[in-house]
Amino acid sequence: MEELRCEAGKRVCSSKGMLTSFGLVYVVFFTLAGVTAAFNLATIPFDEGYSPLFGDDNLIRSPDGRAVRLLLNQFTGSGFISSSHYHHGFFSANIKLPSDYTAGICVAFYTSNGDVFRKTHDELDFEFLGNVEGKPWRFQTNLYGNGSTSRGREERYGLWFDPTKDFHRYSVLWTANNIIFYIDEVPIREVVRSDEMGGDFPSKPMSLYATIWDASSWATNGGKSKVNYKYAPFVAEFKDLVLEGCPVNPIQEVPATVACAEEDLALQGEDYASITPERRSAMRKFRQRYMYYSYCYDTLRYAVPPPECVIVPSEKRLFKETGRLKFGGSHRRQSRRRSRPPVTTVSDDQSDMY
Ligand SMILES: *[C@@H]1O[C@H](CO)[C@@H](O)[C@H](O)[C@H]1NC(C)=O
Repeated sequence: MEELRCEAGKRVCSSKGMLTSFGLVYVVFFTLAGVTAAFNLATIPFDEGYSPLFGDDNLIRSPDGRAVRLLLNQFTGSGFISSSHYHHGFFSANIKLPSDYTAGICVAFYTSNGDVFRKTHDELDFEFLGNVEGKPWRFQTNLYGNGSTSRGREERYGLWFDPTKDFHRYSVLWTANNIIFYIDEVPIREVVRSDEMGGDFPSKPMSLYATIWDASSWATNGGKSKVNYKYAPFVAEFKDLVLEGCPVNPIQEVPATVACAEEDLALQGEDYASITPERRSAMRKFRQRYMYYSYCYDTLRYAVPPPECVIVPSEKRLFKETGRLKFGGSHRRQSRRRSRPPVTTVSDDQSDMY
């Protein structure tokens, strides 16, 4: 247990003697995270907003239809997709990750329109990376706009809780002005659109995806720790699903900015669309304690940080020029490769919609 917490906050416990102070930090952060009130969200049944994407036999609906389990076994992973594309939105679910030995596994919760815009796709990612027994899950966030796949914007983090024990809410807000990644009610990353970003800021309607798949080639220890099917099936659970936004045909004639003007306004007025001072303080604390990589501080990769980067001195101090942590730097350099489960075709009923 100590080992697990230590891993999640490696930079503050480079020696055993510091474990106690880390424990204290953990408690303080946890208390702080609980300060902000829960969002008031309307959840929907699975079949009202989503369809199976692949590995249909490994997608198990709960009896009441409001939750699903995605399984990965030696035959296949599985996934689901929102039945519509959305022009801006709030995409959210309560998720519980597989426990025990999960090396090589990737559970992804993300938005994309790669099915429609193959060369100019947009994408917003939560990617959870499994680990060997006794070591915690880590996760990364990322974004692409208009096919900017050569410019990864990865950040990687630990968590202040064990994501295999309980459900926690993971959310992505996407508006015309900003993107916010949330865990529960704590914003962990905000990307404010700047004109200099150009098309790199996602702008075309996207669908929501959730997948579990074998990412042995890169997910854990740089690909050294593979999925071990002795522990299969691996089960990720999704419930309390939320899909807010403006559903549109991604290749419609009327520009979505016009068609969705009202919904955009409504979205920007929601509680979760603004970061209160309290939330901003929680975000700062999270990032100082649990972020162990950000492309914004990797000056070997980006001599000039991309335009949306906000350089926070207290964050910058954590990293060397290589982007590695100054202390406890056992983390490997980030893979720049794009990786996705082998889903290349849209099912027929999806493409018929357009
Ligand atoms: C997206 O990329 C395409 C193809 O390179 C380009 O024609 C278009 O202007 C870009 N859109 C934006 C918003 O940058």
